[in-house]
Amino acid sequence: MPLVPCSLANPTMEFQNLESQLIDRFGRVHTSLRVSVTDACNIRCRYCMPESVEGFLPQNHLLSFPSITRLVSVLAQAGVNKVRLTGGEPLMRPKLWELVAQLAEIKGLRQIALTTNGMLLASQLDQFVRAGLTHINLSLDTLREPAFRQISRRDGLDRVLEGIQAAVESPLKVRINALLLRDINLDDCLPLIHYARKLGVVIRFIEFMPLDANRSWSQSQVVTGSEIRRLVEDEFGPLAPSDHSDPSQPAKDYLFQDRIGGIGFISPVSEPFCSSCNRLRLTADGKFRNCLFGREEWDVKSILEPSEGGSPCSDEAILAVAKKCVANKHASHGISETHFQPPERAMYQIGG
Ligand code: 5AD
Ligand code: SF4
Repeated sequence: MPLVPCSLANPTMEFQNLESQLIDRFGRVHTSLRVSVTDACNIRCRYCMPESVEGFLPQNHLLSFPSITRLVSVLAQAGVNKVRLTGGEPLMRPKLWELVAQLAEIKGLRQIALTTNGMLLASQLDQFVRAGLTHINLSLDTLREPAFRQISRRDGLDRVLEGIQAAVESPLKVRINALLLRDINLDDCLPLIHYARKLGVVIRFIEFMPLDANRSWSQSQVVTGSEIRRLVEDEFGPLAPSDHSDPSQPAKDYLFQDRIGGIGFISPVSEPFCSSCNRLRLTADGKFRNCLFGREEWDVKSILEPSEGGSPCSDEAILAVAKKCVANKHASHGISETHFQPPERAMYQIGG
């Protein structure tokens, strides 16, 4: 296989065999890529965004669809088999289903998933299904309009519920993601579960992480997975581990006794799952990150989209950047260490 150097790549980079996998120093094999397609969002969840945003990335800072597709096809040859599109709110990127259609052509991808707040979903869903999307996660933290307004600082719960309804009626695999803040929506826990069970879908509770733009995170606002589990078992009886629980997944999934719906807990704060992390991230402006909480990024946009006159880079050069990022991954995120510093970018800028 010819290994052609890229004129713009770091000359000290070692070229890698494309067949090789993305394995870090701790033996973690990276098979899952989360691609943020925009930092823009149409709501302002307090656990993620500031109340007012100075500006989102301009269009020319965003990695183009052909560049994302090229990058994913290179990583697919290195063992990536799952891609999740995130944001910001990914549906703020016009015609996102066109990217999904391009990704669906890539050999080796088992899953093309999307995480969305659902606000814009109902009218776009058919295009995503036709394009080849396989999985969709919808965020829903409350069923009460005032609490929705308090959390997201916007109106629009009805549009989210419409989006969820449309998704449930589609052939996609649907999951609901909920985040509980102790002082705001802890009481929504059981109503959310009843709602998800009525729809027959799995609901997952994710712990509040120190990734909010306001830097207002405090341990006292975190509702842990085990606390929620106790509430749930008091209401529904003992949960049984789901046969589908995947050890490489951050969620621990359980079944209710009647096997209707399902429930999962993603507990990065109280029970870090770093040792089985298989994820690599790409920000909307084309930088690889090896961890949500990492403080380093590895730029790939400059070689994928060289400025005028620059020569196009080789696949090997793209893979080399990904490998460098993976090689620098730490053993764990260190949230509970004394000197923990949250990353400079907030969740919406990294990709949820
Ligand atoms: N902690 C945990 N999850 C978060 N999300 C956004 N900000 C945070 C945070 N600080 C999650 C939301 C949403 C997904 C896109 O990202 O729960 O479901
Ligand atoms: Fe937008 Fe998602 Fe952040 Fe909420 S969590 S503000 S929906 S990017």
